[in-house]
Amino acid sequence: MTTRILGIETSCDETAAAIVADGRWVQSSVIASQHDLHRQYRGVVPEIASRAHLERINPVIEQALDTARLAFDQVDAVAIGNRPGLIGSLMVGVSAAKTIAWATGRPLLGIDHVTAHLYAATMSESESATQAAQATEDGTDVYPAVGLVVSGGHTSLFLVESPTDAHVLGRTIDDAVGEAYDKAAVILNLGYPGGPCLDRLAQTGNPQAYDLPRSLLGRESLDFSFSGLKTALLYKVCGQPRGRGSKAIFERSAADLSDTQRRDLAAAFQAAAVDTLMIKINRALDLANQQGRPARSLLVGGGVSANSLLRQRVTELGTQRNLSVGLPPMSLCLDNAAMIAGLAYHRWRQKDFDDLHLRAIATTD
Ligand code: KG4
Ligand code: ZN
Repeated sequence: MTTRILGIETSCDETAAAIVADGRWVQSSVIASQHDLHRQYRGVVPEIASRAHLERINPVIEQALDTARLAFDQVDAVAIGNRPGLIGSLMVGVSAAKTIAWATGRPLLGIDHVTAHLYAATMSESESATQAAQATEDGTDVYPAVGLVVSGGHTSLFLVESPTDAHVLGRTIDDAVGEAYDKAAVILNLGYPGGPCLDRLAQTGNPQAYDLPRSLLGRESLDFSFSGLKTALLYKVCGQPRGRGSKAIFERSAADLSDTQRRDLAAAFQAAAVDTLMIKINRALDLANQQGRPARSLLVGGGVSANSLLRQRVTELGTQRNLSVGLPPMSLCLDNAAMIAGLAYHRWRQKDFDDLHLRAIATTD
């Protein structure tokens, strides 16, 4: 019997709902992005985000059900990304999910957003399942895996034993890599959201034209740091500042860059960011080998898993290290509800349900 789970995601600035069958078949995935509302601020404004979720949540859920040709009482469970995220945004989705669970009598499942990004790396977009998706049911081909989540809020490495069991090996001590991309795009005066704009521009530039740092935090560390890279880019673009903090005065700005300089700086930033990620992935894979539990696969998820260079480099690494590589289809890289519904299936199989006291949790560190 097929199990159909309604997933809901409202942790940041995407209002999303999806129906996923048996943890892998995406029957509908609706994402209402709020980029237009936040563009003028060049970042997500929490109050605007939660109000927009309130306005959009009902139509988004209805559209997900309509597309899958299901009524509320035909879903087997309701899953909600309840942690981590912006508290006001999370609360909208949690309230909606509880209401549906209560009204239909279906089980409620609170899902961790970051682990769901990792799970997205094992999902496929259509019914022509990838090898990884086929193996998800028992995990024999996928796990143990090394996992990397790279998003606007997170940069973390994991040892992953199963869809519901991931241990953190290392995480960023300052900016997340997506956040660094977004700030770098502001420094270079590119569009919003910054990550995809910078990625596109970087593909036209020469990464060797500028030397930017790769912060490795010591020989063994599996943690990340991206604030030094961001500051190094700022100084290359604007020169050395006079004064400190918000009073700093710079010699020049991004407006003074030629097109070639802007392209080359974007390419140099992208090369430094992705090199850093690749070095840490290799360290994590080596560690798994040393511990006598070599990874069968590498799973990469989160918004930055849409990055062209990162996708290329991890695919090459898979060939070099004879490792299967799971990357989400482009539609499941950024925040979406299919990954929430997909991961929830594995909790559903264990009958590991939550009750109506489920809370929205802003941070899980
Ligand atoms: O996973 P996500 O949608 O939200 C969070 O959970 O944070 O990730 C959004 C992040 C943003 O920082 C965005 O700039 C970045 O992912 N991003 C990219 C690309 N596409 C999205 N960064 C680099 N290259 C991309 N192609
Ligand atoms: Zn996310």
